[in-house]
Amino acid sequence: MLKAYRGDIIFTPTPQEFSVLEDGFVLVEDGTVKDVVGSLGAEYAEVPVIDRSGCLIIPGFNDLHVHAPQYPQAGLGFDCELLPWLDRYTFVDEARFADPDVAERWYRRFLVDLWQAGTLRFSAFATLHTASTWRLMELAQESGLRPLIGKVNMDRNAPDSLIESTAQSLADTETLIHRAAERTPNVGFIVTPRFVPSTTPELMEGLGELVAHYHLPVQSHLDENRSEVAWVRDLHPDIPTYAQVYEHYGLMPRGRTVMAHCIWLNDAERALLRDRQVTVAHCAQSNLNLQSGIMPARRYLDMGLQVALGSDVAAGHVLDMTRHIVMSIEASKALRFIPGHEDERPLRLAEAFYMATKQGGSFFGRVGSFESGYDFDALVVREGDNLLDLSVEERLERFLYAKGGAAIEERYVDGALVPRPFAEKE
Ligand code: GUN
Ligand code: FE
Repeated sequence: MLKAYRGDIIFTPTPQEFSVLEDGFVLVEDGTVKDVVGSLGAEYAEVPVIDRSGCLIIPGFNDLHVHAPQYPQAGLGFDCELLPWLDRYTFVDEARFADPDVAERWYRRFLVDLWQAGTLRFSAFATLHTASTWRLMELAQESGLRPLIGKVNMDRNAPDSLIESTAQSLADTETLIHRAAERTPNVGFIVTPRFVPSTTPELMEGLGELVAHYHLPVQSHLDENRSEVAWVRDLHPDIPTYAQVYEHYGLMPRGRTVMAHCIWLNDAERALLRDRQVTVAHCAQSNLNLQSGIMPARRYLDMGLQVALGSDVAAGHVLDMTRHIVMSIEASKALRFIPGHEDERPLRLAEAFYMATKQGGSFFGRVGSFESGYDFDALVVREGDNLLDLSVEERLERFLYAKGGAAIEERYVDGALVPRPFAEKE
């Protein structure tokens, strides 16, 4: 059925500029965008109008890197760098998710807060625990959101409470692959080796076989922190770079891979990531919290890498993607004070918005824009009065910088209004 959504429409078909239609209509048929028009002609006289005049209508946000079980530790431990932070906080937190009651409580909160923030699609790490990971997948299916979720694989260099045998890790992963295919149509399974130091060569090889056999996507961490990069070099002296370790084991399928951080890539790695059409999840808030570094987003874009945004909760401290859009711009400005980067133009608002909508959305299909043929994933935003006669683009800027996700009033996924998840049970 055809419907028309009326409001101030703004989106980014390209990273260069916004497409804006003040007081326009998005025509949506069976969940898919048909057209964006300034007025409804005679042929549309009978079409039902969902009138959101005065509000912004923007594409939903997509978070390409987030850790669901780390939600309890959000905001903790940022005097540490990555490896001590993992030991002191993250592994302690994640071990608690062996308890199904903990998973039930915290995964519900996590999903409600993502909904609140307007994050409609996301790629999440769970923990290594099969039962609680499955529960997250079921709850996500019930929520109306459309994520990819992975059971984390880790069979080396972790505390006893958070380590599994290679065989068990592979068997549990395959169980969840089947279960998701049968029972959670809106929640896909993504193969999730934690990072190279956590996974033995045997495990990576087995996971690579599952990726090839079931044609699955992969997510992991890459070149986040200099101590981590040195550790990978020690663990795999025969493979020239960190990125090539994933590639070597079949964990970089073309167009189906998300790698978080990618701060310290060398030339060979950049070429490999471009060739494999890897989605780089840029997590600027996390990278500053853990003093990992500043990813050179401008350079990556100029060399044709696909850069999307990730909250990386809980190394990032909030889910709200408006914070991450702003932080990615701020980080790109800070980078200009570092020798060698003075001449690089910082990210522009449209570029950062594109990363959080269309670039991230492309990992999920035709998602993240209002071009014809895209899934209608949309947010209705009431960002305040217009004393200053602001343009639609300026109102979007004010929303992203000053109001944030709290100004979101409605969320639509694939054309359907998504109510607050689990509301009847709270
Ligand atoms: N590297 C390995 N595990 C993690 C994690 O949980 N968070 C971040 N930011 N980096 C990692
Ligand atoms: Fe992460």
